[in-house]
Amino acid sequence: MIRKKNLISICDLSKKEIKIVLNKSLEFKNNKVQTNILYGDKLKGKMLGLLFEKPSTRTMVSFATAMVNLGGIPIFLNTEKLQCSRGESIHDTALVLSRYLNGIIIRTFKHCDLEEFAKYSTIPVINGLTDSEHPCQILSSIMTIMELHKIRDIEVLKKIKIVYIGDGSNNIATSFFLISIILELDLTIISPKQYCVKKELLKLITNNINITSDISLVENADVIYTDVWTSMGFESEKNKRKEIFISYQVNEKLLKKASAKCVVLHCLPAIRGEEITTEIMNKYEYSIFMEVENRLHVQKAILLYFLVRNSFN
Ligand code: CP
Repeated sequence: MIRKKNLISICDLSKKEIKIVLNKSLEFKNNKVQTNILYGDKLKGKMLGLLFEKPSTRTMVSFATAMVNLGGIPIFLNTEKLQCSRGESIHDTALVLSRYLNGIIIRTFKHCDLEEFAKYSTIPVINGLTDSEHPCQILSSIMTIMELHKIRDIEVLKKIKIVYIGDGSNNIATSFFLISIILELDLTIISPKQYCVKKELLKLITNNINITSDISLVENADVIYTDVWTSMGFESEKNKRKEIFISYQVNEKLLKKASAKCVVLHCLPAIRGEEITTEIMNKYEYSIFMEVENRLHVQKAILLYFLVRNSFN
C-alpha cells in the first residue's frame, strides 16, 4: 500500500486506509489512558502549521489539541500577517513553510490553490476545508454513523441508508459523494435542482448513490445529514438560497418519513430555523455533538497517519 503524502481529497485514502484511520480514531476514543501512554509523544519535536483563510472553530481547535495530545506543537498562521498577503506566491510560501514545519493544515477557498501548495510543499498538506471538499469532516461523520448504529465493520455500513439533504454542490455533499463511492455506501443526496451535485461528479456516480430533488426519498433513512444552505464564500446568495431551500429544512415533518431509528447529524456550525429547526437540534444534540467530539479523535489518527510514515505498521 503506497501512502500518499497529502490528504487533499478523501480520494487520497483507499478503502483500506479509511478503515485503518477510523479504527485508530475509535481506539483513541475508547482507550484514552492506553493511547495517551502509547502515542503521547509520537509527534514530539514536530511542528504543525494551521493556515486558515476562513473562520473555523472545530477544525482549527481539534487539530491544535490533537497535535498537543500527541506531543507536538501547533502554530497558528494568520494569512494577513504572512507575506502572502503582500503577494508572495503559493509556490514560494510552500517552499518556505516546508523548511520549518513537519505538516500543515490549510483551510482556503479555491481547491486548486491547495493543490498548488501541495505540489511544491515537501511536508504533508492536509485539507482543512476548501470550497470543494472537507475530507477530515467526512471521516468524523462516518465514524459517528458507525458508532450510533453500533457498526464495527465498515462493510456493514452499506446496509445503512444515509440521506444528505441541502446544498448538493457544497464541500460536504461532495465529500459524502466521494466517500460513498469508495466505501460503497447507500447514499441519497436530496437538493434543489439549482444546487444539485456538481456535474463533474455525476459522471462518477455508482449504483449505490441516488441524486434527487424529491424530499419524499428521505423515506426509511437511517441517517439524515444536513449542512448550512449558504457555505462560506457564497454569502451574496444568502437571501436567494433561503427561498430556494425552505422545503429542504430538517424538521419534525421530514423526520416522520424516516426510519424509527433514524439519527440526525450536522457538521456545524448550524443556523437554527434555517436548514434545521431548534427542536431537531435539541432532540439530536447527542448525535450532532458526538460528531464534534469525534473530530478530535479523527484528527489524531490523521496526524499520525500522515506525519509519521510507519505509525500504524
Ligand atoms: N464543521 C467544521 O468544519 O467546523 P469549523 O468550520 O468550525 O471548523
